Amino acid sequence: MKKRDIYILGIESSCDETSAAVLLNDKVLSNCIANQEIHKDYGGVVPELASRAHQSNIIPVVEKSLSDANINKNRLSAIAFTNGPGLLGSLLVGSSFSKSISLGLDIPLISVNHMHAHLFASFISRPNFRKPRFPFLGVNISGGHTQLIIVKDFFKMKLIGNTLDDAIGEAFDKCGKILGLHYPAGPMIDRLSSNGDRNKFLLPIAKVKNFDFSYSGVKTAFQNLVIHSNLKDSNFIKNNISDLCASLQKSLVESVIKKIELAAKKFSISEIVIGGGVSANSEMRKLLKELSSEKNWNVYIPPIEYTTDNAAMIGIVGYFKYIHNKFDQLNITPSPRFKI
Ligand code: KG4
Ligand code: ZN
Repeated sequence: MKKRDIYILGIESSCDETSAAVLLNDKVLSNCIANQEIHKDYGGVVPELASRAHQSNIIPVVEKSLSDANINKNRLSAIAFTNGPGLLGSLLVGSSFSKSISLGLDIPLISVNHMHAHLFASFISRPNFRKPRFPFLGVNISGGHTQLIIVKDFFKMKLIGNTLDDAIGEAFDKCGKILGLHYPAGPMIDRLSSNGDRNKFLLPIAKVKNFDFSYSGVKTAFQNLVIHSNLKDSNFIKNNISDLCASLQKSLVESVIKKIELAAKKFSISEIVIGGGVSANSEMRKLLKELSSEKNWNVYIPPIEYTTDNAAMIGIVGYFKYIHNKFDQLNITPSPRFKI
């Protein structure tokens, strides 16, 4: 019997990207993202501005995703949306929009945990791809989270490690701000690092017990290094920008790699799935690839377009929830601190 074609419209609006995607089963037909340039000069996301930008972006982004996918809205099987974690005002825009689509088209509503979606981005079907096998070690590295998770099944997972303070992406962004880089600084630090000496400045990796992380120490060490060196040479940042970026990136990337090694050993797991914006980092990708052949691990890192916030990852979780009959009611409310 031919499997029924399921069309999911995914909506992401948890932070500063308004995104809509259409999936046919586990394949992405379109994935449109409107970035909010407005936050660039503030050194971080301004929640009030983010909600307003989502309001003006959401309809055009959804219309574009439908036209890119070349389907009429009446063919949609369900709508899946990010219900948290994230900024309340931003989440409200996506959830209210999704409820009205669900009501108007009389299709099921599916809520999705944003961090769940980052992990499952590796399940999006594409040519020659290999699906992760359960159980796996999930590693979420993003602007708001740094998590290690044992994933036994689509809906059965256990958080084993978390950050005690900042998230890794936040450390990239805040240290970038110290260097005068625009928000989000992670991609620029990655680019500048390619010409830098990663051993020029020694930056600490926090010694935190078990599988937890901490980034406040490296942030302070980085700030002190820049402030003290600037006192001696006012051109310090300009003359050392690539080495500063490469040294910072080394410390941040190694902090994650060390914990992955520890957890893989402790739980005897060789399937490792990475998700979140920082998984776009080129050094992270390179080291993980090298480690996977050295340790005989299967490491899954999503294609770059599914690393930072996007609605395709919401759509793929929506698809799995759809086939497992996990639907929501119209009275569901956003969960800014939604746990995995
Ligand atoms: O997953 P994401 O888009 O949003 C959250 O859920 O938080 O992650 C955004 C984070 C930002 O901190 C950004 O600087 C970082 O991902 N990021 C990177 C790179 N691309 C994005 N960090 C390092 N290297 C990159 N290439
Ligand atoms: Zn995210």
